[in-house]
Amino acid sequence: MKTPGNDVWTVAVADYEEKLVRTRAYQHSLSGSTLPPGEPLLEISDLSLRFGGVKALTDVNLTVETGTIHSIIGPNGAGKSSLLNCVSGLYKATAGQILLQTSGTKDLAKLPPHKVARLGVARSFQNIELFDQLSVLDNIMLGRHIHIKKDPFMAMFWFGPAKRQEIRQRELVEEVIHLLKLQQYRNQPVGALAYGIQKRVELGRALAMQPSLLLLDEPMAGMNVEEKEDMARYILDIHELAGLTVVLIEHDMSVVMDISNRVTVLDFGKVIGDGTPEEVMANPKVIEAYLGAGE
Ligand SMILES: Nc1ncnc2c1ncn2[C@@H]1O[C@H](COP(=O)(O)OP(=O)(O)O)[C@@H](O)[C@H]1O
Ligand SMILES: [Mg+2]
Repeated sequence: MKTPGNDVWTVAVADYEEKLVRTRAYQHSLSGSTLPPGEPLLEISDLSLRFGGVKALTDVNLTVETGTIHSIIGPNGAGKSSLLNCVSGLYKATAGQILLQTSGTKDLAKLPPHKVARLGVARSFQNIELFDQLSVLDNIMLGRHIHIKKDPFMAMFWFGPAKRQEIRQRELVEEVIHLLKLQQYRNQPVGALAYGIQKRVELGRALAMQPSLLLLDEPMAGMNVEEKEDMARYILDIHELAGLTVVLIEHDMSVVMDISNRVTVLDFGKVIGDGTPEEVMANPKVIEAYLGAGE
């Protein structure tokens, strides 16, 4: 991607940023899905995954509805990350299907990660995966890559459609920066920032993809109580303001109970509970799995 000098950006974006601060009126929808709330968005059926003798997932069935925060919980090693990795194309399921309704009949279980991303599935990782040397802005801008139309001829010049496209990209990124209150860090290298802020940048990069579905693998791991509350607030904001559907893996039960519409419980690679937070907490199998794991 061709990046013009800072002065050009400053002029192109300053007015827009000021308007955002005044109105909080976002022009660009951060959600890539137009399905009505409640419609099934992601349908996982009979998904299994094996690593040699280890059965990481066995016959997992799971439906994520549009417009929900759907949490996946379970003891360590239960298969939570493996499940997200199957959805995002990093792991190839041994059996089963993963259908994303916004992508017609394509089975995500058969696609490589870059194709899954293009279909509108964004994710954050359990460990931070950012470019330390790059600024907050540049890291978030990378999330726009899948949407930037590449035309080598146009890219040689900074005018016309190329200019309009770049300004649109920057406006959207400004909205993400604004929504996640990252303005003051915009030009700082990510590597120098506090852990909690880095996690927020990672969230921003995923959001900048305008995903249909956002997968978050323990976005609050390693955070102190205050940072966790902040992150929970941002996830709720994304959900409410942008209408995004979120699949969240989280250990902290109080957070899960607070912000989830629906919870699925995994244990030894199998679904042992599914329902509202209240239903799941009252499920004897779930209580046993948690007590058994000493949590
Ligand atoms: N890349 C891998 N290679 C081999 N085994 C793996 C791999 N990823 C996960 N596993 C195994 O799959 C099981 C589930 O792991 P994981 O999905 O990371 O659990 P969780 O995220 O719930 O803690 C574990 O037994 C783990 O050791
Ligand atoms: Mg994990």
